[in-house]
Amino acid sequence: MSATIFSKCLTPPDISARKGGTPIACLTAYTTPVARMVDAHCDVVLVGDSVGMVLHGLPSTLGVTLDMMIMHAKAVRRGVERALLVVDMPFGSYEEGPEQAFRNAARVMAETECAAVKLEGGVAMADTIRFLTARGIPVMAHVGLTPQAVNAFGGYVVQGRGEDAGRVREDAKAVARAGAFAVVLEKITAPLADQITQELAIPTIGIGASPGCDGQILVVDDMLGLFADFKPRFVKRYAELNHDADSAIAAYAADVRARRFPADEHLFGIKVTDRTRLAGGSA
Ligand code: KIV
Repeated sequence: MSATIFSKCLTPPDISARKGGTPIACLTAYTTPVARMVDAHCDVVLVGDSVGMVLHGLPSTLGVTLDMMIMHAKAVRRGVERALLVVDMPFGSYEEGPEQAFRNAARVMAETECAAVKLEGGVAMADTIRFLTARGIPVMAHVGLTPQAVNAFGGYVVQGRGEDAGRVREDAKAVARAGAFAVVLEKITAPLADQITQELAIPTIGIGASPGCDGQILVVDDMLGLFADFKPRFVKRYAELNHDADSAIAAYAADVRARRFPADEHLFGIKVTDRTRLAGGSA
């Protein structure tokens, strides 16, 4: 039996061991080429259920299915050689109970060869996380603003303000006690994120949280600036690809209409004089 290339990848214990050390760089990816780029620089590649909103134009993550996650995770797997690959469990695939969660998480791991799954929820998901981790499925937890509960929260609102801080802290402690190897803290106040980071023995991965977290994660399309009008406060845009892509597509359309594309260097088996004749030009 020969080892696969994945044996060179970071593992959940490697990520846990980074607690309090060099911050853990994480990004999402949904396709092979982007996964390759992320893998070259980051420690964790997450196939997030944000794929539904980012690539499929869904209004929230609620419509994402297990089949969608598996399809994208297989594509990402082909591009990851060194980072830890984590796949999100979509809404409705794990909340019923530990057995349902195990069945679906095992399918995700078997079909995608990811090394861990991520699921949303704190105290309410602790038994499920315990069940999965006791059966060989490493779990990254996710507390604070959990987007699959957007309707219950009444929107994508900051969590853990004032007295609500206690609830988020209990959620974080519960998933750590249940065996999660790391926990995403999404959209909570910075002092609360720092407090939780100090209290937990597992790494905290912040998104809209604090630089004091043990790592950070963003949706790759957001930090690349692929959406012109989506500029949440917690995202730093490292590029403006939307602008560059828009200019490129406009230039292409103009070239086609003016017959500037394709040019000589793009043609096969046709002489320059023939091409200009076919295009109605003079040689
Ligand atoms: O779905 C997702 O992309 C996520 C993160 C950004 C944490 O859950």
